[in-house]
Amino acid sequence: MDKLRMIGGTPLHGEVLIAGAKNAALPILCASLLSAEPIELENVPDLQDVRTMLKILQQMGVTVSFPEPTKRSRIILQAAHIPRPEATYEMVKTMRASILVLGPLLARMHSAKVSLPGGCAIGARPVDQHIKGLKAMGASIKIKGGYIQAQAERLLGATILTDMITVTGTENLLMAACLAQGTTILENAAREPEVGDLAELLVKMGAQISGLGTERLVIEGVERLHGAQHTIIPDRIEAGTFLCAVAATGGEILVKHCRPDNLEALLAKLREAGLKMAIGPDWIKASMAGRPQAVSFATSEYPAFPTDMQAQFMVLNALASGSATMTETIFENRFMHVQELNRLGAEIAIDGNTAMAQGVESLSGAIVMATDLRASASLVIAGLAAQGETQVERIYHLDRGYDRMEQKLTQLGANIQRMK
Ligand code: EPZ
Repeated sequence: MDKLRMIGGTPLHGEVLIAGAKNAALPILCASLLSAEPIELENVPDLQDVRTMLKILQQMGVTVSFPEPTKRSRIILQAAHIPRPEATYEMVKTMRASILVLGPLLARMHSAKVSLPGGCAIGARPVDQHIKGLKAMGASIKIKGGYIQAQAERLLGATILTDMITVTGTENLLMAACLAQGTTILENAAREPEVGDLAELLVKMGAQISGLGTERLVIEGVERLHGAQHTIIPDRIEAGTFLCAVAATGGEILVKHCRPDNLEALLAKLREAGLKMAIGPDWIKASMAGRPQAVSFATSEYPAFPTDMQAQFMVLNALASGSATMTETIFENRFMHVQELNRLGAEIAIDGNTAMAQGVESLSGAIVMATDLRASASLVIAGLAAQGETQVERIYHLDRGYDRMEQKLTQLGANIQRMK
């Protein structure tokens, strides 16, 4: 297994280009199942999760081509025929977002066999709301042998109120509703920018969706959807990760190809921590000198502070002057990075779904282990700020959601190498 080795203590300087959003790309790849015509995508990030999703779609019969072989960010998908509307356990166990094929397969093929995603490090992550919504649209669904087996002559429009705001739940039901008969209303819909990016593509394909950006989406089903072209929005979490990195190490970086308007809550907390920022339409110039100020926060659904930034921001509070509390309200077990940060000399205690950090002057390098995607990003940031050498093991977690992280950090002056 690969690991990252770094010598911390060097401030970051330079420019970094943000890739396309992983959590927009994954549902958007699945949207190709909704039409027999080609979907042409730009700015697709080159990530493990994207490669996994492409393999799942190809196994079903979707053709995937790269018009410019050296440019993996441009992909054409065509689901002319789907001989195997299935996602096997082997594929799904490596990536829970595979559940996003369920809605489109049911809507287009009227049948689907998708492995139930197992749990993952950050929580049980059930998909009961996805199933509840599809049943409300007339699907007959049974769970057998670890698989979701779903059938639906024709999905019927319904009014669906999910028990909680669910990002992929909203995306699955939104895609299914596009080809259902009649009107579907999604109350309590997720408002994450990645949901909006998917909806924009669906509208380009001929879907009739209103209420974009609000918690109430209204979809008029249509007979079929046609092909379209779409450029995926920049990854706000990758941008936020680099901003936390420079806030932890000090220095000055220019983050380009990002969408500051999708990061309001995070930027406000970073300013409180002492990060100086100049903001443009698609760039952020960020500089940091001295120790961060301690800043408390609670994660919540968009537009509030994103749970996917909790682990990265925690490093700032580990190094801050003062103490801060961080409350995780979305996932029940998203503090796996805390013990690893404490191995680097942080003083963080957990009480239920709240972590309390007593800032220390500096962290000191050690061998630590990544447990999930954003935890691994947090440990890399901590290693860049710590004195001495840090090794982060099991960085396959990092590779799932970041496109060449160590190359980008090296360009910013970090002393970091990948070791086999
Ligand atoms: C999406 O996961 C993201 N993944 C996650 O990003 C992100 O952390 C999460 O949304 C929250 O923003 C993708 O978009 C591929 P949820 P998702 O359904 O859709 C509970 C990353 O690091 N729930 O919004 O799986 C669930 O357990 C990843 O890039 C149910 O109980 O999250 C959680 O507590 C990690 N039943 C809460 O709702 C359901 O049927 C929110 O989950 C669905 C969800």
